[in-house]
Formats: sequence, structure tokens, C-alpha cells
Amino acid sequence: MRTDQPKTIRLSDYQAPDYLIKETHLTFDLHEDYALVHAQLIMQRNPELDAQLPVLTLVGQELVLERIALNDQELTANDYQLTETDISLQPTTAEFTIDSTVRIEPQNNTALEGLYKSGKMFCTQCEAEGFRKITYYLDRPDVMSRFTTTITAEQQGYPVLLSNGNLVASGEEGERHWTTWQDPFPKPAYLFALVAGDLWCVEDKFTTMSQREVTLRIFVEPENIDKCQHAMNSLKKSMRWDEQVYGREYDLDIFMIVAVNDFNMGAMENKGLNIFNSSCVLAKAQTATDTAFQRVEGVVAHEYFHNWSGNRVTCRDWFQLSLKEGFTVFRDSEFSADMNSRPVKRMEDVAFLRTHQYAEDAGPMAHPVRPAEYMEISNFYTVTIYEKGAEVVRMIHTLLGAENFRKGSDLYFQRHDGQAVTCDDFVAAMQDASGIDLTQFKRWYSQAGTPRLQVTDEYDAASQTYKLHFEQSCPATPNQTEKQPLVIPVKMGLVGGCGLDMPIQLADEVNAQGTERVFAITQAEQTLTFSNVPQQPIPSLLRGYSAPVILQYNYSRDQLMFLMANDNDSFNRWEAGQQLALAVLKEVTEQIINNQEVQIDGRLIKALSAVLADSRLDQAVVAQMFTLPSEAYVIEQIPEADAGAICKACDLVRKHIATSFYEEFHELYLELSTISAQTPYIAEAEHFARRSLQNIALKYAMLTGSEDMEDLCLQQFETADNMTERLAALSYLVNGLSRAKSDAVLASFSKEFAHDSLVMDLWFSVQASSPKAGDLEHLRALMAHDLFSLKNPNKVRAVIGAFANQNLLHFHDDNGSGYAFLADQVIALDSLNPQIAARMLTPLTRWRRFKPHSQALMRAQLERIKAKAQLSADVFEVISKTLA
Ligand code: TRP
Ligand code: ZN
Repeated sequence: MRTDQPKTIRLSDYQAPDYLIKETHLTFDLHEDYALVHAQLIMQRNPELDAQLPVLTLVGQELVLERIALNDQELTANDYQLTETDISLQPTTAEFTIDSTVRIEPQNNTALEGLYKSGKMFCTQCEAEGFRKITYYLDRPDVMSRFTTTITAEQQGYPVLLSNGNLVASGEEGERHWTTWQDPFPKPAYLFALVAGDLWCVEDKFTTMSQREVTLRIFVEPENIDKCQHAMNSLKKSMRWDEQVYGREYDLDIFMIVAVNDFNMGAMENKGLNIFNSSCVLAKAQTATDTAFQRVEGVVAHEYFHNWSGNRVTCRDWFQLSLKEGFTVFRDSEFSADMNSRPVKRMEDVAFLRTHQYAEDAGPMAHPVRPAEYMEISNFYTVTIYEKGAEVVRMIHTLLGAENFRKGSDLYFQRHDGQAVTCDDFVAAMQDASGIDLTQFKRWYSQAGTPRLQVTDEYDAASQTYKLHFEQSCPATPNQTEKQPLVIPVKMGLVGGCGLDMPIQLADEVNAQGTERVFAITQAEQTLTFSNVPQQPIPSLLRGYSAPVILQYNYSRDQLMFLMANDNDSFNRWEAGQQLALAVLKEVTEQIINNQEVQIDGRLIKALSAVLADSRLDQAVVAQMFTLPSEAYVIEQIPEADAGAICKACDLVRKHIATSFYEEFHELYLELSTISAQTPYIAEAEHFARRSLQNIALKYAMLTGSEDMEDLCLQQFETADNMTERLAALSYLVNGLSRAKSDAVLASFSKEFAHDSLVMDLWFSVQASSPKAGDLEHLRALMAHDLFSLKNPNKVRAVIGAFANQNLLHFHDDNGSGYAFLADQVIALDSLNPQIAARMLTPLTRWRRFKPHSQALMRAQLERIKAKAQLSADVFEVISKTLA
């Protein structure tokens, strides 16, 4: 906990490190009530700087110093200065050795940062600044060192002792035993990892493109050993894909993944020893949904890909976080697109970006992809750094083309292997390899906010000319009022009356060049003039969502219907449907607020019936097209949003779709569920697609309240052999049945799965996110459940997170009880786990987006949190920026 106000760290203050650490030799002595950490650091004055020897400051937090020596000379309290956050001393030679021993208490570490216990297992999480809770060190990513790690623990409780790199020695000493690991690759401390526990593993082999054999091991608690195969398959696919698509080969003889139950995020790319939230590793048909299977595949790939984009080439400082995260998210999303349905992956990613990143960009925590300042770096593992960062890399890919992009990534890895670099270095490699000037493009890294791209058009039949006028702008964000024009790649086509793309010829071109092109919009106002356009086209703009901007073109609803049925780009077909649905949802919301009779535009139903009738469409795409924009997304589109009215509007429109298509859904459900019942569970795209459409059909059909469907839903719940079907049925039952009936269903589910913590997370979140079951009284009951714990982030996300982010009806109750509840939980969490506390606060940071009544209530809760003494730096930063 902080004693004074946290400082702001600025990118403009960056200075190279005074000293470097050539070698780091660590020895851990693990015990039940303490651990001793001995660190021997072989150090030198940074040879890039002058010969003077400034004071050396090593950072350390919550460490009890037992001894420290300089070049084997024990130091006494007069020789150094010790504070809460660091130790300083004066070196006397350019090369020297520091030896220190500290005592820590992993068993009491509830922040899950540094060395901690998850259940009976010891594990670490060092990114971003957790290593300083393990030993005194230069805990910054531009200090890279060769690590050797020895771990000593009791044999019985901790038969497995792991660290980064290769096992080089091991032995026994009575009841205790030890292992020594050596990592040949210099790395920053944030990539250090250690695991000790009673774990089993599945093992496999991978032969790399240069025919080296790599041992692959996934370690889990013994009861989960039957849930590792999917992660292992995903790992092997990732390794092959990175060779084929990026030419990147794995570089150690062993690659290990360990699953832990208590983890702040999804997973961590520690060199050769990835540590995962068990929710991102474990998957088998009976206990994991299709969504979970795909998440495991994506996260395994993400962490594996970091071995090059993050570890071999790392970040100079934490302002460059998106250098590794944006690039790696782009890489994993392309991998997932190749493994499954490319269009569906894009629809999911764009829906996520627009709901969460655009909201962040429009709020008090808005920041550029490369932030200029922060107080607590943990708060900057954001959707802007990850998802917008990935969009920025995707735009480079779009502007350069696949071939030049690959040349750029080859140059980047070759130029910077073993270095800690910046986003500018990444862009420079892309520019140098392609010969395409990216100077203006770099503004995407420094400018926050979501750009608007307003488009108008003109058609002149006489000259057969068509003009598109583009006007870009970007709203002000905190500390950034002036915005400059960005490079916006617009991938587009001109759709003719028959639904086909017309040839595209700019006025200054001799011939038409293709029917789909990418134009870079670079100015605040810019016009494209097209010649030889035989009829007035409908523009299909931003195909595949070629830039993360809000497109404003005044499509009529008839034009949207036309694009929905005809656009050559499947993403834009979906997008037209989303725009049409959004217009209807906004209209119905207005009617509700004004107490008018609700009238739902019949064109939405007409357009959706064309979707059902279109045999060219993939089942997964149909499911996506029947998925309306979420309540959370609609809230972002309406100033001073009335969340209650929006929830009601969404509910009415969904029910209207349900009754309009009851026969179709009923029939579709019978057809698809029959196939599912006859097919063993397979975790592949075509099966994901069928189950998603089957569940959508069931969901809508259940919304009609039909008893027929209720029986079918109960039957699916009781007889399905996989969690995808069972969980979907459970959630429709909980939202559709009377409380007494749904309680019985929930009870039978919890009886069956009480022993499986991840399945119980699903059980918790189905209830916490339910507008029917998830009232505050029920939420309190869930929190009192034996299996709930505020110390386990997955449980916190399953109950508190699901409530505040998905159960918008109850969270935004006009009596303010939802806000007060969340504030209570944030306060309680802050003394246990500040990172999670700050994350849970996110929904309250959006307070200015709501109607005045809600604003006042949300603000009061923010003030109440702010008034607490001893706030963590994490929560302090979010609260103070939110109220500023
Ligand atoms: N680098 C991790 C990733 O792959 C992020 C991460 C994992 C993390 N655990 C963390 C960040 C804890 C902050 C704190 O995205
Ligand atoms: Zn990452």
C-alpha cells in the first residue's frame, strides 16, 4: 500500500540504465511460512555511458533484507540507504558483484504479483513490475541478463521444481530436493518464472523447421490431466504456423506451460515456461464450451508467439508495451482466423473493439497506443494497448500488403534480436523493408481517441463520375485537445444495382484497376473521384473493417438491406445488418423513453428472413447476423444513455425477432440438434458453427415462452455430451423459467460439477449476468457460497465482473444499489489484490455516459472510494482520473 501519492512516470523522462546486469544467479529456499531468495548479480557500468560511477539504486518491495555484500564484502547499514521501495549504494569499480538475501512471504501474497501460492503450488508473475517483490534488482525491461535459478523445496509437497531454460542439475538433501535451471537467452526480469508443486504433465515432441526436436510439456494438477490435449494440439499448430507465416522457429530444447488457478490475467509468456490461468489451458468437451476451446487455442498461440514478438525482441520501457502486445494480438488473431472461420473471427474482434476499446477511448482513462505517462503500469494492460494496438499493426499490413509486411517483420526480428526496442523501431523496419513512408502513419501511436470518418458522395450521370468526400476528425481526449489527420486505409468497393462490384478507375487513371481497392485517406478533407461509373453505386466502405474508425455515411435502411444481402465482403454484409439493427434499437429506445407506442421497423425482419433463406451463408455467419449489437454497445452510441430503456428495447426487439421466426427457429433447432446428438464433440470450425446456430435458434425460440421449446431446452440441458450445449441451455432456462424451476436446474448442475472450479465459474456467471436471476440479493447469496472467494480472480470476474459488465439492467438500477455494491467490492478487493480492484472499477469510470440521475449516483460511489485511506496506486490512478 502506498503511503504518499503515486508519482506520474513520463516517457519523455526515459534514460538508459546506469548499470547493467550481465548475469543473475538466483537461489530460492521455499518453505511453508517464508522463502529465502539469494541473488548474485554480476554487474557493470553501462558501457554506452561515460566512465563515472553514479549511485546504484536497486528496486525492491515488501522484502526483508537479511544481508547484502558488494564484491564479497558484507555491507553494514552505513554502506547503503534502504527505503520502502529501493536500496542504494556506491559501487567503486566499473565491474562488480552484488549478493543479497531477502526473506519474503509467498503464502500471504494475495496480490498475485511476485512469488505467491496458488493453492498448494508456488508460482510467479513478474510482468510488469513483480520481480521487485522477489529480490532487489534493476526491474526494467531494458536490463537484460542471463539467469541461472536454483530452487530448493520439500520433495513430498513439491516434486516438480521449474524455471526458465534448461534443467542443468538436480539433487536431494534429506526431505528436500533441488533443481538448477539455466536460460541461455538474456532476458528482462519480467520474463522470469518459477514453479514448485505437485504437478502432472502431458508430454509431446515438436520437430522444428531446421529439424531440431523440442520437448513440450503441459503441467497441471493431477485431477486435470485429462484436459490438456487441446492446449497441446494448439501449441503444436502455433509452432508450425509461426514457422510458415513468419519464418520464426522455437529456440530452446524445451517449452513448458503450467496451469494455475489464481491468476490476474489470461497467461504470461515467461521464457520457456509460460504460466497460464487454468481457464486458458484446460478444455475437454464435457466441461468447456466452444468459446473456451477457442480461447485456449488463441491464448496458447498468443503466449507462444511472444517468444519472438516480446522475448527475443522486447520492449525498451513500458510505454512501448503495445510493441509486443499489439503485434502479438495481431499475430494470434490471424492464426485463429486461419484455424477457424476468418470472417467470424473478424466480426467477433470488431464487436469487441467497438464495445470496449471505443468506450475506453471515449472515457477518462483514454490513452494513446503508446501512452505518454502513467502512474501504475498495471492499469495500462488495456484494450487500447492490446486491441487498438493490433488494429494499428493490421493497418500496416493492409497498407504494405502481405509480402512487404513479411519483409518488414523479417527485418525487425533480424535487426533487433536480443534488444529492447521501441514502437518507432518496429515502424522503421516496416518502412525500410517496404520503401513505403510511414511518417504520418505513426500518429496512430501517439494520438488517443477514436477517429470519425464522415463520408458523403455525389454521382453525375452525364459524365459518369462518382465522387466520395472524406472528412476525418477525432474528439478531444484527456491532455490531448488538438488532433492531427491520420492515415486511414479505406478498403472499398462500389456496389452496382445488380449487387456486383463495379470496376474501379480513379479520374487520373487510364484503366480500371480491379473491383476492390485500398485508398489511404491522409488529409482532414479529401475527395476521391471515380470515372466510367455507369450507374449510381452504393459505396461499400471500410471492408473487413480496414481501419479502427467510426464510419459515418448516411445509408438509408433500404441501402443497408441491400448491402446485407449483396455485399461482396462478408464482413460488410454483417456490418450492414449491425447498422440496421442499431438504428432500430435506437429508435425503439427513444419510443420507450418518450412513452410512445413501440413500433419495430419491419425491414429488420425482412432483412433477417433473407439471411435465413440465403444458402450461400456459412452457419456461423448466420449466427453472427442474428446476434444483435449488445446493450453495452448501444449504450456507447447514445449520449446520456438510459441503460434501463436500452435493456428494455433490446429485449423487445429480440422477442419480436423470436416470434417473427418461431417456426423457422423451431425447425432449424430440431434439424441441428439432431445432427449434434449424432455427432461426437469435435473442436473444429464447422462444428463450432453448427452449435452456435443451434444455440441461437434455441435462444430465440425460448424467448417466445413456448412450452414445447422449454421441454426441448431441458432435454438439451440434460442429455448433451458437451458443455457448449449444456451451458447455453442452462442460461436460457435460468432466464426463461420461473425461479423455482430454474433453482432446481441450477442445483442439479452444481451437484454434478461442484468439484470442477472452472465449470462452477460458468455456473456463477450465468446467474450473476442474468436479468432474471441476478438481482442483488441473489448476488450476495452467490458471494456467500462455499466455492466463492474474493481472493480468486476467476471467481471475482465470474460474479462481480459478470454482474457489472453484463447484467446492465440490475447494475444500472435507478436506486443506485448496483453501483454501491460494486464500490463495496472494489474497496474490499483493493486490500487483497489492487490489480483486480482497479479492473473491476471500469464500469464506474463510464459514469459521464449515462443520464444525469445515474451519473450522480455513480459519481457518489466513486467519491466514496476516493475518500478511503490507503488506496493502492492502481485504484488511486483510476479514481483520480475518473473524477478529474
Ligand atoms: N504479457 C501477458 C500477455 O500475454 C499479460 C499479463 C499476464 C499480465 N499476467 C499479467 C500483465 C499480470 C499484468 C499483470 O498478455
Ligand atoms: Zn501478450
